[in-house]
Amino acid sequence: KKLAVFVSGGGSNFKKIHEGCSVGSVHGDVVLLVTNNKDCGGAEYARSNGIPVLVFPKGRREPSDGLSSTELVDVLREYGVDFVLLAGYLKLIPVELVQAFPKRILNIHPALLPAFGGKGLYGERVHKAVLASGARYSGPTIHFVDEEYDSGRILAQSAVRVNANDTPEELAKRVLREEHKLYVEVVAAICEERIKWREDGVPLIQSKG
Ligand code: GRF
Repeated sequence: KKLAVFVSGGGSNFKKIHEGCSVGSVHGDVVLLVTNNKDCGGAEYARSNGIPVLVFPKGRREPSDGLSSTELVDVLREYGVDFVLLAGYLKLIPVELVQAFPKRILNIHPALLPAFGGKGLYGERVHKAVLASGARYSGPTIHFVDEEYDSGRILAQSAVRVNANDTPEELAKRVLREEHKLYVEVVAAICEERIKWREDGVPLIQSKG
């Protein structure tokens, strides 16, 4: 399957997915990296691994030469993209893209949705909110993307214990380690077409074999 990954930052999830593809644990190929930040770590990693980088949307200082949302969809189609993977992409996905790739866009969120999600809750703020709530568990959620932040159907989660003395940084680090494992497993599953949609619309991952 052909994958487009969207990142805004360091891109550690993207790297793990790309590595999974390279070693064959994921039967997929990252054909395009989309970023709103052309100098981010994820974009640099893509360039040094021969993966084309597309900047979307363009920064405020370069208003006229950016792609429109429909042009972005066209580019993804030209690359033959099967799945779009959001991995720390901080911009809202245009509705044209959501509609063009129904049930084909995934996002990873660093807490257990539907708690601790929504507009404005990203990065360190998520972990601060978890710690302030007294929740004993956190962990990544991978969900399908619809037209709002963090609100599509949940596909996979993994629990990470919250320690009494955790700082947001420590919790973030433990959750991120779990994100890497979970995202690679989930991408392997979608590439092998192991997602089954329950009648009520809940997606389930079928185990191998
Ligand atoms: C991850 O914590 C992800 O859950 C969140 O942004 C972070 C991205 O990290 N949405 P990286 O760029 O993959 O290292």
